[in-house]
Amino acid sequence: SGQTLTLSNGVKMPAVGFGTFASEGSKGETYAAVTAALNTGYRHLDCAWFYLNEDEVGDGIRDFLKANPSVKRSDIFVTTKVWNHLHRYEDVIWSVNNSLERMKLDYIDLFLVHWPIASEKETQEKPKIGPDGKYVILKDLTENHEETWRAMEKIYEEGKVKAIGVSNWTIPQLEAMTKYAKVYPMVNQIEIHPFLPNDELVKYCFSKGVLPQAYSPLGSQNQVPTTGERVAENKTLNAIAEKGGNTLAQVLIAWGLRRGYSVLPKSSNPKRIESNFKIIKLSDEDFEAVNEVAKGRHCRFVNMHDTFGYNVWPEETAQGLS
Ligand code: A2P
Repeated sequence: SGQTLTLSNGVKMPAVGFGTFASEGSKGETYAAVTAALNTGYRHLDCAWFYLNEDEVGDGIRDFLKANPSVKRSDIFVTTKVWNHLHRYEDVIWSVNNSLERMKLDYIDLFLVHWPIASEKETQEKPKIGPDGKYVILKDLTENHEETWRAMEKIYEEGKVKAIGVSNWTIPQLEAMTKYAKVYPMVNQIEIHPFLPNDELVKYCFSKGVLPQAYSPLGSQNQVPTTGERVAENKTLNAIAEKGGNTLAQVLIAWGLRRGYSVLPKSSNPKRIESNFKIIKLSDEDFEAVNEVAKGRHCRFVNMHDTFGYNVWPEETAQGLS
């Protein structure tokens, strides 16, 4: 659990991060979860402006540091992300300042562009929603992220954040950035689990010095995939877990770590927060068995296409995958 990964700029990041997207969204849920996670030993928190709970994350960090003087702010790695309606240069700058304020931090460890999708804003606090109930897409900024990325680079140069990256980026989108990025993204946070191993994208990221981070590493257990079967219900995966006396979550986390990237499990349940952080070692045989289950799969659990009303991954749709 003390395993760290090093970003292309030398910044060190604990490999296992705690996801703070609150499934219930009730007040106090995030504070309790963050407190439990820090007490368990997690030192990496994955947050976002969109989760609307950065204040509770900040309170959790502040109270934990107060109660544990031996732990310093620099011992905790905090990620947050800019939402879709804030992709204009000035809005990205506003967003990072707003996150810093809400979290009561004086720097953020990693700042990500949450989606390769830009939309119009009602105000900086609120995305514009069209008559169809969907985000109003800004086509120019969605098809060319240079303006957004310039602001990310500016924030990085100013030292407000120790590293910058993207989330939900595809290979063509990363490829396009090679043409204009002065600072290439250090991270690409994407959905990865055995039903969406994302092998090609993961390989591409490593080849460019971009560290992948896996969200929904447990197969997003509260969402039903289009194909019906959930990762949690897969017989082979459950047998691997049972045989070793481990939970399925522990197997899934270990599988991601063994593939070399950062893994971001989330839970609101203190027992699961703890057991997920007991990092097991997968035998070669079990690792291969999970790889076998993952082979050829491409089932996305997070489908933002419906929300945005926009072709997020046109190359996937063209292949009939998304
Ligand atoms: P809970 O908060 O009740 O623990 P993902 O990160 O893949 O999207 O998965 C998150 C979901 O997985 C949450 O609904 C969380 O529910 C559940 N979860 C987290 N850890 C475990 C675990 N060890 N066993 C079963 N479900 C888990």
